[in-house]
This record gives sequence, C-alpha cells and structure tokens, in this order.
Amino acid sequence: MINSLKYFAVVPAAGVGKRMQADRPKQYLSLCNHTVIEHTLSRLLEAEAFTTVAVAISVEDPYWPELEISRHPQILTAAGGKERADSVLSALKSLENQAAADDWVLVHDAARPCITSADIHKLIETLKQDATGGILALPSHDTLKQVDGCQIQQTLDRRTVWRALTPQMFRFGALKQALEQTQGNLAITDEASAFELIGQSAKIVEGRPDNIKITQPEDLLLAQFYLEQQ
Ligand code: CTP
Ligand code: MG
Repeated sequence: MINSLKYFAVVPAAGVGKRMQADRPKQYLSLCNHTVIEHTLSRLLEAEAFTTVAVAISVEDPYWPELEISRHPQILTAAGGKERADSVLSALKSLENQAAADDWVLVHDAARPCITSADIHKLIETLKQDATGGILALPSHDTLKQVDGCQIQQTLDRRTVWRALTPQMFRFGALKQALEQTQGNLAITDEASAFELIGQSAKIVEGRPDNIKITQPEDLLLAQFYLEQQ
C-alpha cells in the first residue's frame, strides 16, 4: 500500500512582506526575469513529485491572476488566511477531495525560490517510511547566545539548535488535525511547531544553505546569486 501514497505540495503565499518594505508582497518581486513565486512554483513542478500544488493567495491579491502559472493544470488556488498557519490550513482544505489521510504533504514557503529538486527528494526519501514526518533544517555555524534584551545569559550548545527551513513534510490528515487543534496560537510559525505543541515530535533532515527565505531587501541579490550558481 505504501507505494500508492500520493504527495502534495502546499505553498503559503498570502503574506504582505512587511520586512521587505517593497511596493508589493515579496513573492511578486522580480528575480532573474521572473517573479519570486514563479521560481518557487516552477521548482516544485520540476521535482515531478507532486499530484497537485495548492497555493494560498490573499483574496485581495491582484498580482496572482496576472501570472500564467496560476492557470497551470497542476496548480490549485486557495484563499489565504490571517496568519501563515491559517493559509496552510486553507490550502489543505482545498485538497480534501483528492488527498487521503496518509498521503504526504510538503509545505513550502513561496518566499524560498532557491529550493532544489535534490533537497525535495532528499526529504521525501529520508522520511517516506516515517510515522510523523519532518523538516529540512540547517545546523548553526555561529556560536549561539541566549539573551535577555541585549544582555547575554549563556551560550547554547549549538549541536542541539537547528534552523528550520521548508519544505516541511507531514501526513495530510495529521497535519490538518494538528493545525486545527492549535488554530489561533501565534507561536505556530511552522508546521513542526504545531506538532510539538500537541506532543508529537518531527525529524530534521539537513538541507542546503542556499534554500534561503527572502525576508529583507538584501536577500533578493543573494537569491539571484544562488539561482545563477545552481
Ligand atoms: N504567509 C501566508 N499567509 C500569511 C502570512 C504569511 O501565506 N498570513 C506566507 C508568506 O507569503 C511566505 C511564508 O508564509 O511565503 C513565510 O512567511 P514570511 O516570510 O513571514 O512572509 P510575510 O509574512 O509575507 O513577511 P513579513 O513577515 O515580513 O510581513
Ligand atoms: Mg510573516
């Protein structure tokens, strides 16, 4: 039965990109001749892993219908929500008629256009027999300080602290349930934290450092560099 499981991608793309301080949400900024979200979605489609890619888009978003990729047969548009977790839950609900409880969902930020097929397949291959799932993550190279204001309290053991990336891969039914159970909790900034809150633990799989999230203006140039290198 395990071989008949399907894989879906969910892309939260309903943020406003406040930290980017641009004239439009960062997913619609130009990067190497396309918008950021076109790169992200093309990478997901090129991985040839997903039955459907569900994208959560703000209901007031005038940019999305202008993109040809919004009409791609494998792409499904869902309404975005107030927080990232609300957008992910909305996209999951749009997949309800095609996804079974045990199918896998990979949630990937629209703002991470440098995701590679290699990382997507590494995550899938590592976790496909797992009961719960897990996330791509990066070890920290810097020494880590726990602080109170700007006062250092202590140095953390950096072997025990990882930076969470996306995709984050979970079973469709369990992810939907975890997000429903934790709905409204602002501490839920990724899918793994919803599982942590209900007492289930996810795994980490080491990802590539070029899978950056475009957050601040200088990140666009870095993303351009990585796309050109890849
Ligand atoms: N996102 C979403 N729905 C929201 C908020 C965020 O779908 N209500 C998406 C963003 O579009 C982005 C991803 O979640 O692809 C990661 O969020 P983040 O990097 O925080 O993006 P923004 O919220 O847009 O940026 P900022 O926090 O600077 O406003
Ligand atoms: Mg945000």
